[in-house]
Amino acid sequence: MRIAKHPALALALVVTPVALAPLAASADTVFVTASRDNTLYSEDGSLSNGRGEYLFSGLTAALDDRRALLFFDVASALPPTATVNSVTLKLFPSRGSPTPLNVSLHRVTRAWGEGFSNASANEGAGTTATTGDATWTHALYDAEAWTSPGGDFDATPTASTAVGAINVHYAWTSSQMAAEVQGWLNDPTQNFGWLVLTEADAGGEVKRFNSRNNALATTRPILEIDFDSGIDTGACCALDGSCSIVEDPGGACTGVYQGTDSTCTPSPCPPPPGACCLPVAAATCALETEADCSALGGSFSGPLAACEPGLCPVVLTPFLDELPLPRVAVPVTGQAGQSAAYVMSAVEISQQLHAELPPTTVWGWDDGQGGSAPGPTLEARSDAPVTVTWRNDLRDATGALRDTHYLEVDHCLHGAMDNVPRTVVHLHGGHVAAEYDGYPDHNYPPGEELVYQYPNWQDASTLWYHDHALGITRLNVYMGLAGLYLLRDDDEAALGLPSGADEIPLVLQDRTFHPDGSLSYPAEWRDHFFGDKVLVNGKVWPYVEVPRGKVRFRILNASNARFYTLSLSDGATFWVIGSDGGLLEGPVAHTELTVGVAERVDVVMDFEQYAAGTELLLVNSAAAPFPGNGSGMGVVPDVMKIVVGEDAGHTAPLPTTLRTIAPLEESFAATHRDFVLAREDDECTGARWTINGLGWMDITEYPRLGTSEVWRFINRSGHTHPMHIHLVFFQVLDRQPFEIVDGEVVTTGEPVPPPPHEAGWKDTVQAHPFEIVRVIARFEDFVGNFAYHCHMVEHEDNDMMRQFVAVTTCGDGARGLPDEECDDGNRDNRDTCPDGDGGTCQTATCGDGLLWTLAGGAEQCDDGNAMDGDGCDSNCTATACGNGVVTEGEECDDGNGAAGDGCDAFCLVEAPVDAGAPDSGPLDAGERDGGGELPPPDCVCGAAPSATTTMAPFGAALLPLFVVTLAIRRPAARR
Ligand code: C2O
Ligand code: CU
Ligand code: CU
Repeated sequence: MRIAKHPALALALVVTPVALAPLAASADTVFVTASRDNTLYSEDGSLSNGRGEYLFSGLTAALDDRRALLFFDVASALPPTATVNSVTLKLFPSRGSPTPLNVSLHRVTRAWGEGFSNASANEGAGTTATTGDATWTHALYDAEAWTSPGGDFDATPTASTAVGAINVHYAWTSSQMAAEVQGWLNDPTQNFGWLVLTEADAGGEVKRFNSRNNALATTRPILEIDFDSGIDTGACCALDGSCSIVEDPGGACTGVYQGTDSTCTPSPCPPPPGACCLPVAAATCALETEADCSALGGSFSGPLAACEPGLCPVVLTPFLDELPLPRVAVPVTGQAGQSAAYVMSAVEISQQLHAELPPTTVWGWDDGQGGSAPGPTLEARSDAPVTVTWRNDLRDATGALRDTHYLEVDHCLHGAMDNVPRTVVHLHGGHVAAEYDGYPDHNYPPGEELVYQYPNWQDASTLWYHDHALGITRLNVYMGLAGLYLLRDDDEAALGLPSGADEIPLVLQDRTFHPDGSLSYPAEWRDHFFGDKVLVNGKVWPYVEVPRGKVRFRILNASNARFYTLSLSDGATFWVIGSDGGLLEGPVAHTELTVGVAERVDVVMDFEQYAAGTELLLVNSAAAPFPGNGSGMGVVPDVMKIVVGEDAGHTAPLPTTLRTIAPLEESFAATHRDFVLAREDDECTGARWTINGLGWMDITEYPRLGTSEVWRFINRSGHTHPMHIHLVFFQVLDRQPFEIVDGEVVTTGEPVPPPPHEAGWKDTVQAHPFEIVRVIARFEDFVGNFAYHCHMVEHEDNDMMRQFVAVTTCGDGARGLPDEECDDGNRDNRDTCPDGDGGTCQTATCGDGLLWTLAGGAEQCDDGNAMDGDGCDSNCTATACGNGVVTEGEECDDGNGAAGDGCDAFCLVEAPVDAGAPDSGPLDAGERDGGGELPPPDCVCGAAPSATTTMAPFGAALLPLFVVTLAIRRPAARR
């Protein structure tokens, strides 16, 4: 074995390019370890120690002689052409008298061997030789004897050194050694190594040296040879500017040979230019050398790299623009913050998103006062109903209603069958009827509108509205179709939190731009898209001036897929006071906080202690995708700059109690459901994300109103999915880690309750990789189809969105709007029906002979023939709702998935007739479909839904003059 400083050169010829160490053309040094060694013991010709850890040389107390042998394979370590300049042997004595004794090397004159003998203990006594070992009598035991016992060697010492103290290295060097090594190189057959002889005058003077088998590698015999290789070399400059050493005269050089003895240190090769991206908004690319590029502050793509279109990113100076505050939307009737009606039009506008960028075409919302993205903020108050006419008024540059999307539509995705820029608006966090929930299939093209009613039977919280069109939500949201909906109430107002100028909404979105300012988004679906710029309220990396006091930031992550882990650049503490569903029980101190897509966090930061003029950054450290693998991939650190102003702001202390939140009792849960989150292959898009391997059309959950359910999200993927459930607010119960063993989920730890900032009402929960997160929700008030999905909108579109159907039964005590205005099941009074009254819903089935009357007048009489108490004999006959047979009394009966009944709405069943096998085609309003888990319980007391999903052209739907048809009081029990 050998250790060469420059192995490539020792092997000779072409040296691999790049990063060469300083290198003369030929001088070099190698370190050669012994490839054989042994000890001769004079007392017995059968003793040896070939594989021992030690070598011995000297005279024992019993006057027995010891001689060591060493062999170095110099021919394998040096090029055959080498000229040996000098040679040094180093040995390491580890035992023996400290008396300095002369130890000399003698050239051995015949071949000898090292067998497998390996003496024990201190090895001084040797052991029985094996075949091929050198012994006192034998060069190769026991076939070939030495001519003279004790070894055949040149009596003239090659080199000698006095060895005294132990445990240090001793060196032997001489011109004779160099001559001998040169001789061995020239004729390797004459290389038999050296014999180590100690001039011991008296017994007991034995030196013990560590051998080549010693456990301590640094103490083994080593031969250092300094030589000239005898080969001329020179530097070769390749076209890419790299330098390599090649053999003279440079025949192997594919560039320009620099001549004999030229070196690569310093490199003689001129650096070639390559694409250099300059740090400017125009994304300019220039051909520069690496040095020139870095002097320009640019980023160098590599020698000879070409300036391709799209190579260079748009580089913007952070913190140039002031943070905009979204305007409060102006209603057409009523008053902002009270009962009101709005017309909100989705419009295509041009908006300057950064001072260095040309204006960008975006989609925003226009309340009649001008469009913006994010849209104007809808201010609302608990229990004060709001009506919004959501109009799709997207027009192209000519002013014509758009029939194609601004971005490329990927037709692989379910629901994205054409390029029409359909929209439908969801109030995220809104507890609203299914008809007004922005059901993804109810999307409509430009030129149409839907009128939605929001009763606001819920507590103060940060809601937001955004597009939810099936298959193209990610495109519509990326274009800008989102805005805030701030719901306030008296309880919150009484707390005296920072308000007015001290309350600042922050809508976080990430975007990537083309140099002309236009938005960049991939034409084909991807797992996720992350922009390289962070916008706050529609400006890239803005700054905001704050007073020297407490500021309430109402933060919404409205990005497509990016999570943010937010902190202040000075590490200051801030307080989390609210989450998706409103205030927490009390403020929670944090120095950083992760906000998943669609989550809202309400935080209070205190700037009272800062001097006026102090500048702080709001920064992000979340990897994209989140949580990443620890490499910090995809982090965009800048979010916003905060400049502390002169004015004293809100300095009152924060209340320590904000409200009480009654926990939903797990033991009362009626149903537990599992949702496995995973990625699977897809023929068209390559991959898709699923919940339980099912898609949007597969309905398997029928939660019953008035009951609570525990949902477990089991994330078998490496990304955190922000899982959102419509209709409800839930509480996070716990999270539990797991591993996949043989394809099965095996938990690896105890369930851990959520941290305090997640212990309030939530509608979106971070389901982390290889974790089970459990949430509990109570389903109330509204029957029908509601979405639940991952809110990374790329996942939502393909295909991580499903729907549940909230169901109710007459007489179960739970109100199921819009069909049941009240339901006196006598379980509780939450339905607001007076006790015993029966209200508008009774425990009855068509044909059971009991008369039940609905507001819609569905069953005027019921001839079940069980009794005659119904006072009629003709209106409703003994047929079950949902059996698909239209009978007298049932104007229609949508039980069969076939068209025979001529209607789809009048009489409804909760569970499908074709249980387990969804029928094909889109769902009609109120239609239930898919594999059901519940048997059809009964008829839903059913008038046809009053709000239809028929799209109306503008003006055809009379603008509701502040008439709210869901004018039903909010149940007192839930205040
Ligand atoms: Cu904010 Cu179904 O979404
Ligand atoms: Cu939602
Ligand atoms: Cu997801």
